[in-house]
Amino acid sequence: MNFLKFKNKKLFFENLSIENITKKINTPFYLYSSKQLNFNFNTFKNAFKKIKPLICFSVKSNSNIKIINELKKNGSGADVVSLGELKIALKAGIHPKKIVFSGVGKSYEELSYAISKNILLINAESESEITTINHIAKKNNKIVSVGIRINPNISAKTNKKISTGKKGNKFGLSLDACQKIFIEHYKYENISFEAVSVHIGSQIFEISPFKKVLNVLTKLNQQINHTGINLKYIDLGGGLGTPYSNHEKPFNIKKYAQIVGKFKKINKVKIIFEPGRFIVGNAGVLISKIIYIKKTPTKRFIILDAAMNDLMRPALYDAKHHIQPVIKNKSNTFKNIEFVGPVCESSDSFISYKKYQNLKEGEFICINNIGAYGRSLASNYNTRPYAAELLINDNKFKVIRPKQRLETLIN
Ligand code: LLP
Repeated sequence: MNFLKFKNKKLFFENLSIENITKKINTPFYLYSSKQLNFNFNTFKNAFKKIKPLICFSVKSNSNIKIINELKKNGSGADVVSLGELKIALKAGIHPKKIVFSGVGKSYEELSYAISKNILLINAESESEITTINHIAKKNNKIVSVGIRINPNISAKTNKKISTGKKGNKFGLSLDACQKIFIEHYKYENISFEAVSVHIGSQIFEISPFKKVLNVLTKLNQQINHTGINLKYIDLGGGLGTPYSNHEKPFNIKKYAQIVGKFKKINKVKIIFEPGRFIVGNAGVLISKIIYIKKTPTKRFIILDAAMNDLMRPALYDAKHHIQPVIKNKSNTFKNIEFVGPVCESSDSFISYKKYQNLKEGEFICINNIGAYGRSLASNYNTRPYAAELLINDNKFKVIRPKQRLETLIN
């Protein structure tokens, strides 16, 4: 299901013409669809309905509190990686027992806060972190539920910069290190080891890496049997891909659900997932105005009022986010165009096309699939304020976070 569609040459998100919104709100702005968001969450939930997992939305992908609150209404928990994300998740109304805390470098302050809130799991990534958790727990006279994130040394077959599960990556503990900690669990009197977690990367389309992970986890679960640890949960992380172009096929979630179903039967644990992009990726677009068109001997630069600070993914990962006009026309005579932003970097370039419809200065365009890692990766580079965020519901929209006031950057 896709809620972004042309009707009579005008681009609509749900039942709202984007052109109409541009008459009321200054560009650039992020625009989200609540229908798409709910659809994606329920697609995930239904695919796994037999095993009833805890779905912890990965807040790093989109940390807008209204988005998290919308997902909470569908039963979502949260996967957080910082004090800020933890506070947002709690403020959005997510129950602490539906929150997992991941990350390779959680500070003493962050761990203390998480422990004080009695969250479901802290997924630890090093022996030092486990020692710190034990220390804080002891000081507060608590037993803290901890998971160990393993590094299974498996290639996610995705962009190198978003791969996390190979042994050269900083994430998790090796299987041997994990087993050693479980064997020595008595050393950590104030910790209850309840889970193993894993996350091998993002934007993964193939099933085979996930299959390998499940095999590794089944083996590990058998090997730790004798240590006295009985896992309550296995946290399979996120990573499911979402298509950014027509060439990419949607992730085969049914197939994934089948293999996880089998896995659960063998391992008899509660499954946790931490999806981000799958839930929110195609639920957001970035709307921008063409400020200038500059013709050079080799190409035409379409200079937008959105820039790399609003959407870092093309500059960071060479990601291609398709751009479509907000109003279609029949002319198709633009050749070799490049959509760029106003930031003073050559990498502030979104995408190029060999052929495109004619465009004019002052017209609006729509950058697709920016719901995940769009606003959450944004910056104030070039002293540009964060753009507004809007949420559509059917034929209405609400500003769910206003544009940042420029004054806050000038002090
Ligand atoms: N769990 C953990 C422990 C993670 O590190 C991540 C993402 C997720 C879950 C959610 O992964 P997802 O389902 O969204 O793939 N900025 C990059 C993506 C970085 C992902 C980092 N970790 C991008 O824009 O492609």
